[in-house]
Amino acid sequence: MMKTKMNEALNRQINEEAFSSYLYLSMSAWFESRNLKGFANWMKVQAQEEAVHAKIFFNHIVGRGGSVKLEAIAAPKTEWTSPLEAFKDTLEHERHITACIHSLMDLALKEKDHAAAITLQWFVTEQVEEEANAEELLAKLEMVGESRQGLFMLDKELGARVFQMPAGVTV
Ligand code: FEO
Repeated sequence: MMKTKMNEALNRQINEEAFSSYLYLSMSAWFESRNLKGFANWMKVQAQEEAVHAKIFFNHIVGRGGSVKLEAIAAPKTEWTSPLEAFKDTLEHERHITACIHSLMDLALKEKDHAAAITLQWFVTEQVEEEANAEELLAKLEMVGESRQGLFMLDKELGARVFQMPAGVTV
């Protein structure tokens, strides 16, 4: 049985993750429009991961007899001035999600909700990776600067990303 406060907070996180998925799908469309198909692929895979994150919270609530309340998903931005700006937004967004996860963990510990804490532990680790990935790509884009060749090479690299269901997760 889950306390109402925790249930509501986890419902809000479903929305945060769903918005994340929307945001990266929007970035994917923007990269497609710039003919940067590798970047578009990377963002599409990212969007798939975020949809899985939303479902992990969904399953957690349902599995504990809580009540799922899906709220409207805000419209994400649709235009960026450069790939660099898109990845600056990505990093900023992931830092925001990390803060959300940490405050959920604070609440779980305060409420002595051990089941929620275990689920959230996975997300604490995941966020370290999410931020590291965004930081790495941002650094690479800064290195590439105005070089078309560098951007071409990076696009090729990002085109190789394939979606993988996280180990131990079924949605
Ligand atoms: Fe679900 Fe990118 O954090």
